[in-house]
Amino acid sequence: MSDKYYITTPIYYPSGKWHLGTCYTTVICDAIARFKRMQGKDVFYLTGTDEHGQKIEKVAAEHNTPTKQYIDKVVGDLKDLWKLLDISYDKFIRTTDDYHEKAVQKIFTKLYEQGDIYKSSYEGLYCTPCESFWTESQLVDGKCPDCGRPVELMKEESYFFRLSKYQDRLIKLLEENTDFLQPATRQKEMINNFLKPGLQDLCVSRTSFQWGVQVPFDPKHVVYVWIDALTNYITALGYGSENEELFKKYWPADLHMIGKEIVRFHSIIWPAILMALDLPLPKKVYGHGWLMLDSDKISKSKGNIIDPFLLSERYSVDAVRYYLLREIPFGQDGMYSNKAFLSRINSDLVNDLGNLVSRTTAMVEQYFGGTIPAPQTATEFDTSLIEVATGALDKMSANVDNLLIPEAIDNIWAIIRRANKYIDETCPWILAKDEEKRGTLATVMYNLCESIRFANVLLQAFLTGCPAKIFEKLGIADKSLMTFDSIKTFGAKINGLKVAKGEALFKRIDIEKELKELDKIAQANQKAAQQKKEDKKMQENVINISEITIEDFAKIALRVGKVLAAEKVEKADKLLKLTVDLGEEKTRTIVSGIAKWYTPEDMVGKSIVVVSNLKPVKLRGILSEGMILCASDDNDNLSIVAPISDIKTGSEVR
Ligand code: MSP
Repeated sequence: MSDKYYITTPIYYPSGKWHLGTCYTTVICDAIARFKRMQGKDVFYLTGTDEHGQKIEKVAAEHNTPTKQYIDKVVGDLKDLWKLLDISYDKFIRTTDDYHEKAVQKIFTKLYEQGDIYKSSYEGLYCTPCESFWTESQLVDGKCPDCGRPVELMKEESYFFRLSKYQDRLIKLLEENTDFLQPATRQKEMINNFLKPGLQDLCVSRTSFQWGVQVPFDPKHVVYVWIDALTNYITALGYGSENEELFKKYWPADLHMIGKEIVRFHSIIWPAILMALDLPLPKKVYGHGWLMLDSDKISKSKGNIIDPFLLSERYSVDAVRYYLLREIPFGQDGMYSNKAFLSRINSDLVNDLGNLVSRTTAMVEQYFGGTIPAPQTATEFDTSLIEVATGALDKMSANVDNLLIPEAIDNIWAIIRRANKYIDETCPWILAKDEEKRGTLATVMYNLCESIRFANVLLQAFLTGCPAKIFEKLGIADKSLMTFDSIKTFGAKINGLKVAKGEALFKRIDIEKELKELDKIAQANQKAAQQKKEDKKMQENVINISEITIEDFAKIALRVGKVLAAEKVEKADKLLKLTVDLGEEKTRTIVSGIAKWYTPEDMVGKSIVVVSNLKPVKLRGILSEGMILCASDDNDNLSIVAPISDIKTGSEVR
């Protein structure tokens, strides 16, 4: 059996703010990666960002920010989120990374040269947000079947990948290798909805936008997002670079974990690309369900963001990780609610786990001065407790292998629940009253501590904060007592270790009060978002108010003038009095606030632009018969506007 384990998440679109739905795939993969590492596997866990395409270009433009600058910020936020959630990825790939772009160009050229990619033109119904072409029959109510938004007819010269050529091999793959795509319902969906009706060749380049990897032999084309995005799984390992060591070691992927909406790309297009490249196929693609809110997918575009930063800060990272791993039947959609989240914390983390640890350590402190005793006299309940504890690892391994993640976490809770029951069965507080039962009490305390150690060793794969605290409370510092090997048999030498009850692992939540708090926060956020919308609208209105028609503009008579004389205005530091020729019978007097930037000498002989039909006003007792045009900036610079070549004095400016 191979010892390597290569697991990937999809690469994320850096289209805006990150939400709890975003964390789902990554936390699940992190738990699997940690579990496999603890099993002794050489794990490579890949995640990253999918940074090309028209959609990203558009979003950045909406933020008035250069595309890469915008992406850098959003990717920075994502990395902060992964750090906060203790995501233990081994590599973070960005599709704008130089090595990736070069490898994509190589792959594209290779496929073109061997005839798997050809040039043609494409006319189809395109959904810009999803970056997908659809056929008429695939539309739902005339709209994109993935996101429900309108599609538009597009025609473009494009390169095509000969997807149709691989149709029979793909059908064979999905029909015969039932391990390849899971859950099984997704296999049927792919075969019946896409493969059996017939595959069309896939459009793999674009000329309508620039933000992508250039096709090296035809630079007006950029590589269409899926060839760029899907190949990240091999370019991240160095495929197509000078050093393919990692690729040789880790490819094929053991597991591509993805959301259900991108199953088509991973189970049809991706294997076809790999077939064309003559590379081995991934061992498994798993399409999980969505985290939903009020029957909608949690997503930025739906505006129903649940903030993982806020939840982690208020209730701990472990609480967020636990909820994501435990709550949703894996493979199906799951509904998020604050109430379900908070209830999970109270019931599983505070009551089951927290209580077991605090009760046990408190009793060891009270009855044995804080030192874990060696077991002495057996009780009738020991065997069943020990059976549950020692059986958990195998059960959990099987569940992780079958991607039954909530079931795997429940294998740990089986130990915790059994240990809590063991306390109720053995009633240590009664044993403690009877000196003759001292040997039994010692066994009970030892068994409880050892059971907690078993649960905690397993917990390390899933939670990242409390396992270290629990080991500390049990006085366990020896790393060899923290491994999967150490829980093969019950009875490690933990007697003699000093426990410390310390603070509670998780604070009990007053759910009603907390729900009100969360509502308040949500309302405040909504208000702020509404305010932002209104501010934006107002800004647009201001622009509308200041918009004028050409007829309005025609009311302003702008003329080229020549300054014949200039002098300072007495007791007015800012003003110069100019005598200006506008090609009229009489010269005009214009008072202008430019003395800070221009001396009278600077001005004499200069050509300027004058608003000649401005109603005359008296300034410092001098009648000013017009206004000269100047440009000014935020740094207090001022520059007079002037014609850049000779032109007759009095000429109209339009
Ligand atoms: N860029 C593509 C993937 C390319 S992989 C070669 C993409 N990106 S994404 O940012 O839209 O989604 C990334 C992952 O987050 C997907 O697996 C998606 O299913 C997951 N989720 C996003 N919102 C989610 C929920 N509300 N619930 C569960 N997972 C969700 O697709």
